[in-house]
Amino acid sequence: MIKNIKDIYRILGKYKWYYIFSTIILLVSIIARALEPKVLQVAVDNVIGKYITGNKITESKNNDVVSRFFDYLLPKLNESNFGEILLLLGIIYMVISLLRSLFLFISSAIKHHSTQSTIFRLRNKMFNHIQHLPLSFFSTISKGELMQRCTGDVDTIKDFIDQQIINFLRLSATFIFSFIMMYFIHPNYAFYSVCLAPFIFVLSYYFFKKEIAVWEEHEKEADKLNSMVQENLNGIRVVAAFSNQEYEIERFKKQNKAKMKMGVKQAKLQAYFWPLTDLICNIQLVISVIIGGYFTLQGDISVGELLGFNSYLGMVTMPMRHLGRILSRMGIALVAMERISEIIEKPLEEDLGEIKTGKLSGKIEFRNVSFTYDGKQNVLEDVSFIIPSASQVAIIGESGSGKSTIIKLLLRFYEPTHGKILIDDIPIQKYNKSFLRAQIGSTFQKAFLFSSTIQQNINYTKMDAMEYEIDAAAAVAQAIEMKDKFNKGFNTLVGERGVTLSGGQKQRVALARTILVNPTIIVLDDTTSAVDTITEKRILNELDNSLKGKTAIIIANRIASIQKASWIIVLDKGKVAQQGSQKDLLKNSVFYQSIQDIQSHLEEEIQLEIAN
Ligand SMILES: Nc1ncnc2c1ncn2[C@@H]1O[C@H](COP(=O)(O)OP(=O)(O)OP(=O)(O)O)[C@@H](O)[C@H]1O
Ligand SMILES: [Mg+2]
Repeated sequence: MIKNIKDIYRILGKYKWYYIFSTIILLVSIIARALEPKVLQVAVDNVIGKYITGNKITESKNNDVVSRFFDYLLPKLNESNFGEILLLLGIIYMVISLLRSLFLFISSAIKHHSTQSTIFRLRNKMFNHIQHLPLSFFSTISKGELMQRCTGDVDTIKDFIDQQIINFLRLSATFIFSFIMMYFIHPNYAFYSVCLAPFIFVLSYYFFKKEIAVWEEHEKEADKLNSMVQENLNGIRVVAAFSNQEYEIERFKKQNKAKMKMGVKQAKLQAYFWPLTDLICNIQLVISVIIGGYFTLQGDISVGELLGFNSYLGMVTMPMRHLGRILSRMGIALVAMERISEIIEKPLEEDLGEIKTGKLSGKIEFRNVSFTYDGKQNVLEDVSFIIPSASQVAIIGESGSGKSTIIKLLLRFYEPTHGKILIDDIPIQKYNKSFLRAQIGSTFQKAFLFSSTIQQNINYTKMDAMEYEIDAAAAVAQAIEMKDKFNKGFNTLVGERGVTLSGGQKQRVALARTILVNPTIIVLDDTTSAVDTITEKRILNELDNSLKGKTAIIIANRIASIQKASWIIVLDKGKVAQQGSQKDLLKNSVFYQSIQDIQSHLEEEIQLEIAN
């Protein structure tokens, strides 16, 4: 808990001084506000009252600064002209009001500016951090939960620092100020007047702890609800296709109820707690009034002092009354801070690789590589192969045999549990991650496009690419036809705000993106699975030219896709079952033979069609 308080203090940065400054200005404004009734009082008692009764303007009996100021000022004025005196008082009142509003404005402007700036920096920090987290982290947290932390929790912190920091400082200052004033009137009486404060502190702390526990649960339920909505929207077509809307609605309702229950629990806590503190504060007031009466009767304090004391009494109990409310908001903010810290304190992706420059030849070696995602079951087991530079190698194998995992290890999304991966005979850990990834152009199995134009999706890997370069890459990927197909050509928006591309179109745009970087090693993970066989053939022919001199790893289960490969690795349940040339495999690999048999007919038909 202390750590979370420190964290909130830390995220305020230099703005903590701004909050203090804003509070001081606010206090000045409050003092100005306190002066206003005094001016009214002088106007009524010393001016209008005297005018009505025909008396002379007299000195007031009060001894405060404002009264003394008027006692000095009023006799200097021409008494016969009451109108002018009243006007002067009106102007003084106006000036005080204006100053009060001005201070209030400055105070809240500083406060809001500080809050917005703090939250702006916090959001940037979170996003920056998330961008550099190891990819394995994202399989431990759902996107919905991550979104909730980046939005809901950040907003909670925002509300807290915007509303409560100044509130806390203001109330603390009021408490201390009033107590000191009371102390000067009568020290013992002052202590009696806050004798129940320790009870309020203890009680507030007790509820504060309870509130934290309930809010933690509340946020967990909110995470689940968010994830559910996110997943539902992602799969809305599946829901509709299977007419499962009612089921989804029920599921949502249940989760929504779980969250609501926690909300109600929290509201109940406050409903018990706040009246209880109010009650204690009222008892405190009664005690003070009785003791005050006693002291007055004893002659320890005068009636005037009792009256003065009473007004401070209200000021001293008010912060006690509000303490619980502030702590309640603080409890919620601390939970939010904890959840945010869990992200911004996650260690960033380690990168000890020193090799940052140079030209790779593209030789790849897997040496006895084993890997497990969950620490229990090996997804890859003792995988060894060598891919000479500038060669084309295919990896085939049943679904789930570990093909994509090999690529993830090559890109260092994960580290092997055993064994070594080498590029140009150097372990890949020695390469700087960004450098390594820049050398390997990969298209992933599931083509992902951003909600921007086709062109922006292609040149995502090379923002300064010239149009002819983009066109050339698109031509190889057979994506160039989209230029004519859509009215706005490559400026067509895709994704949520634009047109939805077909699976094959997406794959081709993603492939163009990879080709554009012109990497040393190119990896195509099932890149053409959604493309029709004729277009695929064209892509492969074009690729064959542009892949010259590059190392290519092609993962596919279509014989046509891997025909140009000089070496084929057959994976079976995470192990290398066979590897060799097409010829070798035709002799030795049952898996290769079976897909060859099934697909060879189809292949002949395609050849014929292309020839025509
Ligand atoms: N992020 C992950 N966390 C845990 N297990 C995973 C993860 N990704 C893949 N796996 C598991 O690892 C195994 C190999 O997956 P991989 O994606 O490498 O298969 P694949 O050969 O590419 O299959 P496909 O041909 O269907 O793409 C599978 O059993 C899969 O369930
Ligand atoms: Mg795969």
